[in-house]
Amino acid sequence: MKSHTLLMPLDMHLHLRDGVMLETVAPLTSYSFSGAVVMPNLVPPVTTKEDVIAYKKRINAALGRVEEADDVLMVDDFFEPYMTLFYQHYDREFLEDVVDDIAAVKLYPAGITTNSEGGVDSFDLETMRPTLEAMSDLNIPLCVHGESDGFVMDREAEFMSVYEMLASNFPKLKVIMEHITTKEAAAMLDRYPNLYATITVHHLLITLDDVAGGMLQPHLFCKPIAKRPKDRAALLDLALNAHPKVMFGSDSAPHPQHAKEACGCAAGVFTAPIALQLLCELFDANDKLDNLQNFVSDNAQSIYGICPEFKEVVLVESPFEVPEHYGSVVPMYAGETIAWSISNVE
Ligand code: NCD
Ligand code: ZN
Repeated sequence: MKSHTLLMPLDMHLHLRDGVMLETVAPLTSYSFSGAVVMPNLVPPVTTKEDVIAYKKRINAALGRVEEADDVLMVDDFFEPYMTLFYQHYDREFLEDVVDDIAAVKLYPAGITTNSEGGVDSFDLETMRPTLEAMSDLNIPLCVHGESDGFVMDREAEFMSVYEMLASNFPKLKVIMEHITTKEAAAMLDRYPNLYATITVHHLLITLDDVAGGMLQPHLFCKPIAKRPKDRAALLDLALNAHPKVMFGSDSAPHPQHAKEACGCAAGVFTAPIALQLLCELFDANDKLDNLQNFVSDNAQSIYGICPEFKEVVLVESPFEVPEHYGSVVPMYAGETIAWSISNVE
């Protein structure tokens, strides 16, 4: 049986939520990943050092870790939640105080996606300059949800001018184009040395046709929406060839079934427990399994300058039947079969 080993897989864009949902989904990621960049779009969003520390504690608690003071006492399976702050116009003093507790700051245009109402209203360079200069000096990456408020299929392409503005005015600031979905974003990568990108597994697999070409598929609906075949081809070219500026970020975004199968479907695809299996299947089908390690870990380690503790995940080419539910959440491909499964984690 064909097998493939991955070392220290990392999910560089993950929604863990809070409360019961956090308890359901956090162990599904910590099982097979060494770490994940945890998104700050809670209600209310994560905007203070206290918020960051308290949320990290709740994540560790959801993983069954007992903490005393600031020390984690019991850790069975190693997993590092790389925390983020929700972008606001922060001053230098605040960022200096929080820099050791965060991996990045996440910027959302106001109202563009789930829980982003407190995001940025206008991308005015001078208003943003003090925050971005301080982040650049402190080497804090800026993760960006790059969509305009234009026509839904054009939103990401229209946002390219903002990426150019950010990358050219702050040449030492690492700007990460999150969950890219278009050939325009793929082409931007090599134009500025300080631009990077994450790509989800669902955007490597589906196009708008899968979402809305037949019966509407709420569990494939997310922001940014999946685009055209030529866009998916551009993403596949980057991921399968392990472009060094590209990292895997699942954007796994759980919503309860009633919020997805509703009149007014919440945006987000839940892939955390099936991501590595799907990636193995995809990379194997394209004869590119040797590049998967770079895409799911090594590139991210270099870009973020992180060094996760050892974890070895062995996958085998043996069918995995995707459960219909994980708690209240319906995963992508529920009830379907993936050709690869996880056989061992150490
Ligand atoms: C995310 C969510 O539900 O938090 N939804 C999504 O469709 N991706 C937010 C986001 O990353 O846009
Ligand atoms: Zn997201």
